[in-house]
Amino acid sequence: MTNADPVKIMKQEVGKAAADRVKSNSIVGLGTGSTTAYAIEFIGDRLAKGEITNIVGVPTSFQAEVLAKKYGIPLTTLDAIDHIDVAIDGADEVDPQKNLIKGGGAAHTREKVVDALADEFVVVVDSGKLTDKLGSTFLLPVEVIPMAITPVMNALIKLGGKPELRMGIKKAGPVVTDQGNLVVDVKFDSLENPGELEKTINNIPGVLENGLFVGVADIVLVGEIIDGKPTVREM
Ligand code: A5P
Repeated sequence: MTNADPVKIMKQEVGKAAADRVKSNSIVGLGTGSTTAYAIEFIGDRLAKGEITNIVGVPTSFQAEVLAKKYGIPLTTLDAIDHIDVAIDGADEVDPQKNLIKGGGAAHTREKVVDALADEFVVVVDSGKLTDKLGSTFLLPVEVIPMAITPVMNALIKLGGKPELRMGIKKAGPVVTDQGNLVVDVKFDSLENPGELEKTINNIPGVLENGLFVGVADIVLVGEIIDGKPTVREM
């Protein structure tokens, strides 16, 4: 193997493995993030080569929309379809029960809509995303409508969290989501019951969606490097 970035190689391999699962005549949820970006690129390659035909994508973000256009994947909306065959999306953390934390790219609200609708939701991650317990390495993203930011942050503190407003990089001020909202990243010292916490946080008035995806993933593909060789295994 060359001295190329191993994380990048794992993301490419797992993105390709997910793209290889896409069948002709299907509606595909297109996730967000650097790993799914490879899957979108490889789906576009397969379409261009004629390996698969008649694919339409449902983007989970502006990023996914831009990439799908770049790689020649026709797009549709949820108003025009009655099902999604498969959704491919990344994650920030995955626990042994296939529960996830998502939202590192501030796209978790649309991602949850699309991923949860899919007949099969395939998660694509590099091995660094696997964790025994959610919340160990990654803060929990929560999308909040701007006028409710203060009461929502106070409510998150009452739940035992330490919320921080996500700030932009190469942009002054906070991150603004594709829907025009703000994102709060919350540290919980112990995230014991992710299923309950997902519902409790979403019940706070002003919260649009949080990044806990409990019981949504069907298949988790993990990119790894074993003995210097990139491999993909199903968790
Ligand atoms: C986007 O909001 C996220 O849910 C991404 O799917 C997640 O952050 C994974 O991104 P990477 O593949 O870039 O790590």
